[in-house]
Amino acid sequence: MQRALDFDKTPALGVPLPFLLNVPLFGLLAGLLATWAGPQAFLSRWDAATLALTHLWTLGILGSAMLGASIQILAVACNVPIAAARPVARTTHALLTLGTLALAGGFLWWSPTAWLGAIGLLAAAFALYLLSVGVALWRHRKTVYKGAKEILVPVRGALAALGLTVLMGLVMAGSLGLGLSLPAWVGSHILWGLLGWGGLLLMAMSFQLLPIFQLTELYPKSLTRWLPLLVPGLLVAWSALDASSGLPHLMRETVELLLVGAYLAWIGTSLQRLWARKRPTAEATTLFWFTSLTCLLACAPAWVWLRHGQALQAPMVLGVLLIVGGLGAVVHGMLYKIVPFLLWKHAQDAIIIPDRDPAQVRVYLKVLPKMAEYIPVRAAQAHWACYTLMTASWLLAAAGWAPATRAAGPLLLLSAALLAWNLGCALRRYRKALRDAAALPHHQITPYIPVVPGR
Ligand code: HEM
Repeated sequence: MQRALDFDKTPALGVPLPFLLNVPLFGLLAGLLATWAGPQAFLSRWDAATLALTHLWTLGILGSAMLGASIQILAVACNVPIAAARPVARTTHALLTLGTLALAGGFLWWSPTAWLGAIGLLAAAFALYLLSVGVALWRHRKTVYKGAKEILVPVRGALAALGLTVLMGLVMAGSLGLGLSLPAWVGSHILWGLLGWGGLLLMAMSFQLLPIFQLTELYPKSLTRWLPLLVPGLLVAWSALDASSGLPHLMRETVELLLVGAYLAWIGTSLQRLWARKRPTAEATTLFWFTSLTCLLACAPAWVWLRHGQALQAPMVLGVLLIVGGLGAVVHGMLYKIVPFLLWKHAQDAIIIPDRDPAQVRVYLKVLPKMAEYIPVRAAQAHWACYTLMTASWLLAAAGWAPATRAAGPLLLLSAALLAWNLGCALRRYRKALRDAAALPHHQITPYIPVVPGR
């Protein structure tokens, strides 16, 4: 009963697009920082540059893309549009962008002023976003599409996990800013952020988007029903055990083992479904999914290494597998689906043909590019190859291989530049399509024209 999208509910282009364009922007910034820091960035997870890099990735790249994509997916897949989407998105985007820069600056220069600034900006960004989405979920609870109910459970879980992650992050940043001792919440902050927010959102997207875009079989009902409930339950149990002193470590590790098992069930099913998909060609999005799921699969042995080895590199490798490989690859793959679709849809919507004259419709459709023409397949696949190479270099760097610590930054710069180029070309095609259509007689056009970098 899943899997339909109502494209007429697509929000204005100016709502999700700025969030999505943050991905190459923060990719370039993280690439510059990793290039400048070099081996230092991979020495210790508590190094200033490493913490700044972590948040350029989690908030700047993953956070921006996921907030933008969620607004879009809630509207088209669930019939949950947020009210006043344009001002909410614009304000959230500005606050999130500035707040992430301030937080990264706080870590880099160990600056209380930057931390306190970041707290104000990020608290406002997430409060506005979560409130708007929360109100939309409540207001539209009775008109949610029938097939979308299953994905709303993991989406709600992901949003609650995001709220908790942010809250813990803000309190920790506040403690750093005010020079107080740090509450021992880092473990929970990481787990709720990566396995709660990131993991559950990925799960929700896979339930909905893999069957539609990759023509895979539907996920088993038992899995879509129970996993999105099991994961938050295990996270609550983990945090409770982590907060109680005197209990044997084994209890917490058992919960971790169950979490690994729960995610392995989802990863195994997703890989099997993707492998047996009915769409024969592997477009860039499919390839990014494979990179992501392979990295997520590798998290299981990395977790065993973390728990049963003493190596300082183990948490770094696990972090890179989750952030750069698992979540980052899907976010990048998603861009190659969402951005061409948004531009194609809005180019069509921008043109109002008087009386819907079929002859005129044909003329207009001829000047508008097809969806696949916005970003050529080869360009997207080349970017996937570069992204996967970059992920491998980050993994080797995290594992302590010196040459990779020098290559990781430049490779991220290259990957982000390729993405910026591909998205820039798509935006130029969109603007050209609108101009070509405007040159035709008897037109009425109401376009949203984004600013294309470098033009
Ligand atoms: C308002 C947003 C956030 C703030 C203010 C924030 C702040 C912080 C702070 C203060 C630390 C601890 C630094 C230390 O111990 O010295 C930290 C660590 C961390 N945060 Fe966040 N955070 C935020 C959002 C997120 C999100 C959304 C994620 C993941 C999805 C995330 C992932 C991490 C990770 C992985 C670490 C550990 C870094 C490491 O071990 O190298 N943070 N964060």
